[in-house]
Amino acid sequence: MTEDVFRSPKKRGRIAVFLSGRGSNFVAIHEAIRAGGINADIALVFSNRKAAPGYLFAQEQGLETLNLRPKNFPDRESYDQEIAREIRARDIDLIVLAGYMRIITSPFCQEFINRIINIHPALLPAFPGLHVQQQAIDWGVQFSGATVHFVVPEVDMGPIIVQAAVPVLQDDTEETLSARILKEEHKLYPEAVKLYFEGRLEVRGRRVFILE
Ligand code: GRF
Repeated sequence: MTEDVFRSPKKRGRIAVFLSGRGSNFVAIHEAIRAGGINADIALVFSNRKAAPGYLFAQEQGLETLNLRPKNFPDRESYDQEIAREIRARDIDLIVLAGYMRIITSPFCQEFINRIINIHPALLPAFPGLHVQQQAIDWGVQFSGATVHFVVPEVDMGPIIVQAAVPVLQDDTEETLSARILKEEHKLYPEAVKLYFEGRLEVRGRRVFILE
């Protein structure tokens, strides 16, 4: 059986960032782009919440923004179909989920397979889902961290691109561990986007190879 192989494109990429909240990972990527560290431009910042701090920051920065209210759509599928139309119209190469708090429907994932990435504040496949920093503390693990992965229809299950580990300390609270992980996220996510547009990510089945 031949295995499907995907190789990320080497080009100046057009990125769409999807966010629902604070947007600190978006800011980290935006800054890395402005510093010349990533061969890409943010062509769109999309949010389901127009009051999200990250969304307001994008507007202040003069980036193109789009907000669609989920309430105006009968179901998830039609909401995602409308987003897909907007993405196609803008010739987007990569969708960067940065604290986007909606589950993406399967047809959307399939249309943009290998072109959606996400960051998760745990060492996947441990602790998928929400409130994962507290889950890591409660489980008693001694290390947790952050994972950047491709998005597939099964939530938090896609091929892993890069990870960073941090220690979990005895006196950690959800806040202290989250802050330690977030610091790593802000390095890891720009690095993953950089590798993507250097044409250095090769996906073979579940495995992602970082090419020299
Ligand atoms: C981060 O912890 C990220 O790992 C998770 O959601 C949080 C988003 O934070 N997916 P921010 O909005 O980027 O500050």
